[in-house]
Amino acid sequence: MTIIVTGGAGFIGSNFIFYILKKYSQHRVICLDKLTYAGNLATLKPVIDNPNFSFCRADICDREAVYKLFEEVQPDIIVNFAAESHVDRSIEDPGVFLQTNIMGTAVLMDACRKYGIERYHQVSTDEVYGDLPLDRPDLFFTETTPLHTSSPYSSSKASADLLVLAYSRTYGLPVSISRCSNNYGPYHFPEKLIPLMIVNALNDKLLPVYGNGGNVRDWLYVEDHCKAIDLIIHSGKAGEVYNIGGHNEMSNIDIVKIICRELGKPESLITYVPDRKGHDMRYAIDPTKIHSELGWLPEIKFADGIKKTIKWYLENRSWWEAIISGEYQKYYQKMYGDR
Ligand code: NAD
Ligand code: TYD
Repeated sequence: MTIIVTGGAGFIGSNFIFYILKKYSQHRVICLDKLTYAGNLATLKPVIDNPNFSFCRADICDREAVYKLFEEVQPDIIVNFAAESHVDRSIEDPGVFLQTNIMGTAVLMDACRKYGIERYHQVSTDEVYGDLPLDRPDLFFTETTPLHTSSPYSSSKASADLLVLAYSRTYGLPVSISRCSNNYGPYHFPEKLIPLMIVNALNDKLLPVYGNGGNVRDWLYVEDHCKAIDLIIHSGKAGEVYNIGGHNEMSNIDIVKIICRELGKPESLITYVPDRKGHDMRYAIDPTKIHSELGWLPEIKFADGIKKTIKWYLENRSWWEAIISGEYQKYYQKMYGDR
């Protein structure tokens, strides 16, 4: 089995590659990644010498490069993680989100049609459903919840989902889509809430909480997400959408306080900053379908996962210090400087 994993030099894609190579000794994995600011070859160091692994630097929007790779490796499965993934950046500059997340998805699916594949899997997000009110804890996103996006990021992801379903219906392309809740774990880029707070706390820097910190996210350890995608691509039905989430809703402020406690840092580092524009209040996934059809259940409890994650950041300082010493400084100044 030959799998092309796009965006495999990023957070979830790299964890997925590690998971697949460890689990299947016969699977060949090719990582296709543009290496944007969020992609990092150092992340792939654990597998770079694995004979079942290879890396191709390319943009998923580059039709010629994508077709060339398909021709060379004749993949059976494509798992598309490649995306611009940060909501705050999409608010600053939506263009590249539309280009990569929508046009890039179309190029990959055109390649699938041209060369023939067993499965194209689109890694989507719960953010395509918009948000839920805080005072209705009985409401959850199901696969039939209407798409109702808030940010340029989520709108680009929802557009891609529609395109994937259109390629299924129009061309009969064997596709699947997973919509997962917020992930956390090793190799998470330190612009996102959990790694940003860990890295700032370790450097005794302020911990910038948007608004009043009451927004709720449904956190899932990254390996549980990888296991779910593995099940979907091998046993899930073509043409289907699967929600992935572990019923682990937490407010941002509670997360930041847990990180302070685990690191022995004072809560006085927490600073409330002006809210994100269009900030979604609450995400909450109903994972009944993937549980009942494929038997998936999350295995890592948040209390354990956050400890593992913090330990990883403590033991892998060189990974994140290299990131925050470069261009990241300009980004941080732009996003948080006058906030
Ligand atoms: P990430 O930003 O850490 O990694 C994205 C990767 O894609 C990087 O390696 C980057 O270099 C690559 N990339 C970007 N543009 C590219 C292009 N044009 N061509 C080729 N490669 C390109 O993202 P992540 O957090 O790992 O998210 C992966 C996927 O999972 C995304 O599609 C995202 O929408 C989805 N998702 C993320 C979460 C989450 O909590 N992080 C939750 C649900 C779904
Ligand atoms: P983020 O990690 O960007 O994921 P998403 O917006 O895709 O859910 O943010 C998670 C939550 O944390 C979100 O409600 C915004 C909030 N947040 C902060 O309060 N401060 C920060 O510095 C960041 C990056 C996020």
